Amino acid sequence: MRKILVAGNWKMNGSKAMVNSLLDGLLEGSRDERNVDMAVFPPFPYLAEVQKKLEGSEIAWGGQTVNPQEKGAHTGEVAASMLLDFACRYVLVGHSERRSIYGESDEDVAKRFAAALEAGLEPVLCVGETLEEREGGITESVVGRQLDAVLERSGVKSFENAIVAYEPVWAIGTGKTASPEQAQAVHAFIRDKFAALDAIIAGQLRILYGGSVNGSNAADLFAREDIDGGLVGGASLKAEDFLAIRNAVD
Ligand code: PGA
Repeated sequence: MRKILVAGNWKMNGSKAMVNSLLDGLLEGSRDERNVDMAVFPPFPYLAEVQKKLEGSEIAWGGQTVNPQEKGAHTGEVAASMLLDFACRYVLVGHSERRSIYGESDEDVAKRFAAALEAGLEPVLCVGETLEEREGGITESVVGRQLDAVLERSGVKSFENAIVAYEPVWAIGTGKTASPEQAQAVHAFIRDKFAALDAIIAGQLRILYGGSVNGSNAADLFAREDIDGGLVGGASLKAEDFLAIRNAVD
């Protein structure tokens, strides 16, 4: 059984005060033993604060994106080595907001994934279709293409140290969660795709679901065979809401 991971993507939200009270709440509320890993993804300026609070705890943390270059003239970007300086374990790559608002192509995402992995970070590769693509019946070909870009560059073995997050774009921040059946179907497609390349990696791979996960729908999602956790946006900004998702794990 793969251990469930509940990951909180704070996006561009927070303040020093909010980060401190949120993390205090999470530490306080996650003392009981449960078969679940937790991680938070704060905006870059709060990484130092997060490291200070969480070091030595069971909660891990990561960056929301990473630049593929090691250093240089890339104003506004952050290198993998910088994330490692703040003891990040994970980094999100290819979140749909990075793809749609900041124009990251499959190729860019693949480069970011490769750089993260090479530096020793564990990338969380985000994939997912838009509403139009779902209605057009091309969900699997879109998700397949997004995965292929990374598989072609880094190879299936790279997923020994990586995570996939399936996030249908139409479910992100909309309050419209994919049904557990809809999510499970795409998760099974993803796992089968990996299984065709390497059965062991496919069996170990954690595939998270993201898109309006909350305390009421989490248990039903996590109960599905191929759903190994959640990438949570809105509901990760309040300790109580995020803990409700964690506590939905048996
Ligand atoms: P949401 O965001 O939970 O607010 O829908 C999920 C995500 O973007 O990772």
